[in-house]
Amino acid sequence: MTDRSAAGGGRPRVEVRGLEKAYGTFKALDDIHLDVGEGEFVVLLGPSGCGKTTLLRCVAGLETPGRGEIRLGGETVFSSTDGTYRPPERRNLSMVFQSYALWPHMTVAGNVAYPLENRGVARPEIARRVTDVLRMVGLDHRGDAYPGQLSGGQQQRVSLARAIVTDAGLVLFDEPLSNLDAKVRENLRGELLALQRQIGFAAVYVTHDQTEAMALADRVVVMERGRIAQIGTPRAIYDRPATRYVAGFVGSQNEIEGRVVEARGDALVVETAAGPVLAAANPDGARPGDAVHLLFRPEHAAFAEAGAANVFPVRLERTQFLGTHVEHTVRLGPVPVTVRGPADVDPTGPLHLRVPPERAFVFAREGA
Ligand SMILES: Nc1ncnc2c1ncn2[C@@H]1O[C@H](COP(=O)(O)OP(=O)(O)OP(=O)(O)O)[C@@H](O)[C@H]1O
Ligand SMILES: [Mg+2]
Repeated sequence: MTDRSAAGGGRPRVEVRGLEKAYGTFKALDDIHLDVGEGEFVVLLGPSGCGKTTLLRCVAGLETPGRGEIRLGGETVFSSTDGTYRPPERRNLSMVFQSYALWPHMTVAGNVAYPLENRGVARPEIARRVTDVLRMVGLDHRGDAYPGQLSGGQQQRVSLARAIVTDAGLVLFDEPLSNLDAKVRENLRGELLALQRQIGFAAVYVTHDQTEAMALADRVVVMERGRIAQIGTPRAIYDRPATRYVAGFVGSQNEIEGRVVEARGDALVVETAAGPVLAAANPDGARPGDAVHLLFRPEHAAFAEAGAANVFPVRLERTQFLGTHVEHTVRLGPVPVTVRGPADVDPTGPLHLRVPPERAFVFAREGA
């Protein structure tokens, strides 16, 4: 796999430094630092209100930050220190929004041609490029249609075509697929990624859908209340979440409260209501005596034989068939725990659950 991260060499396409945006006393963005490499696909992920759109709009020039710097392709487009501000149309980027934002009175071809006409590109060249990109998004036969005559998925393909027709090195996406139904969304997601790889533009893509983020991103930026909680590859974010917030936001987690009673090599023994549990992942550097949350994922816990290390007796409460997998709810002592696993669990027999220490995370418990 090629390294598309900003560290992969050359000047990043996007450099954000110390960015801050406040509305009154409320900080929508607080000290944001972010690089996006040429051709890299970066996804901003986080819950509603965490500042994703605000950050995207600052990069686009639609929002003026209170502090910080933004460079695009090495050129400063915003700086609070010397007052630089370059308007959106001079930032060499394009945007795709959730609400397609097409001109209803213009044909599909007219909509796609619009940004080229604006730039004074010659007519034959416009015709050629519009035909090219409409073919790329699978709409070469619909150039004469009006947006109102197209499905939602097709309309979003038109906005995508309009975004790539100018050959900008950077495309910003704000939840472009959230208005579409699940199947269309999944198809379009695959097509979008293929196009991005083929053309090689850098992408900053906003979503609150973690599956979408994992599927698209070279790197995911997890945001939390105006700040960046973690930046990393989808795998790093999933395997090595830096905070409890990230661990809980990406994928699902079982959570047990406890107290560290012993350090055993790199691992910790955590005393919980279900007994002592060994956990090896300790990003906060918790120590004996510390109150902690112990986290592990439903897909990492497994039924096992009694007697082995980190194996606990559990009581089966509920089994849910979910198509691709089966989810069991068990009681580990007093704590309800979710386990993804095989369907053939004997509900009458004694059951034991293994919590793999290397997959168990310990995070400091605040105020405890
Ligand atoms: N023009 C504004 N005036 C005041 N507050 C604003 C304004 N724009 C955004 N905010 C606030 O800034 C915060 C971040 O908003 P933003 O739109 O960036 O969130 P988001 O992460 O994109 O959320 P969503 O997933 O709901 O789109 C929110 O609390 C929002 O209420
Ligand atoms: Mg938003």
